[in-house]
Formats: sequence, structure tokens, C-alpha cells
Amino acid sequence: MANYTLQINGRSLQADVEADTPLLWVLRDHLGLVGTKFGCGIAQCGACTVHVNGNPIRSCSFPVSAVGASKITTIEGLSEHGDHPVQLAWDEVDVAQCGYCQAGQIMTAAALLAKTPKPTGEQIDTAMNGNICRCGTYHRIHEAVALAST
Ligand code: FES
Repeated sequence: MANYTLQINGRSLQADVEADTPLLWVLRDHLGLVGTKFGCGIAQCGACTVHVNGNPIRSCSFPVSAVGASKITTIEGLSEHGDHPVQLAWDEVDVAQCGYCQAGQIMTAAALLAKTPKPTGEQIDTAMNGNICRCGTYHRIHEAVALAST
């Protein structure tokens, strides 16, 4: 067990956990940031996506000991009032069906648009490809990401 000080959503937060604890479980079980979801636990579905220094990562497979001084952003910290352009587009297009995957989808989309503000349709599909939606809302996800980029 060790004490980790993590920079999350602009705050400095502490957790006493084992070094190999996945960041996902530190966020959810130790820090109460439950917006980030557990899907597969093996880096295959994208439900657990958060940003590390602006890059989307799979927090289920990212040990807390690898975080260091990196800045973590979770869905709770993406915008102050749920008004990030991707979140607004998500509402506008009414993307969610069951909604379970959407935090991960939105974080992946937000990371894409931060680096590529005007992605092509192909770039959207490539970036979003690893985020699985069991309800199959892919066409609305694509539409929302395109809308957020305009
Ligand atoms: Fe992390 Fe599926 S829960 S990728």
C-alpha cells in the first residue's frame, strides 16, 4: 500500500492503494468519481476512458503508479456545467440509449477534437473505433462528434 497524490480535474487528490491498482478503481472506489465506467476490464471496450495529459487512455488497464504528476481529466471534469461542445452535441443528437458507454465515448471524442478540431468522417470513425456501444448507437455518435466539430 502506498499513498498517491493525483492531479484530477484540477484538484490534488490522495488515495492509499496498491501500486498496481487500476486508475479506474482509484477513481470510482477511492475518490467517488463514478462517472467513469467499468465495461470489460481488459482495455477492449473504452467505457473507462479518461484523459492523461489530454490523451485518452483505458483507465481499467492503467496502474495508478504510472500516473505520476500527469493531469487526469474524467467526465466529471470535462466541463463545469456539462457544456463541453461534445456534451452539448450529445444532447442535441440524443445519442444515448442505455447510456452506459457514453462517458468513455465522450472522453474519446473530446480528445479527438482537442487535437483535430475539424476531423473528417474517416478520422471520426478511426478515433471512435475502439469504443464499443452495445446498443449500436454508432451512427448517432458519429453525428454528434461531427456536430461538435462545426
Ligand atoms: Fe476499460 Fe473496457 S473497461 S476498456
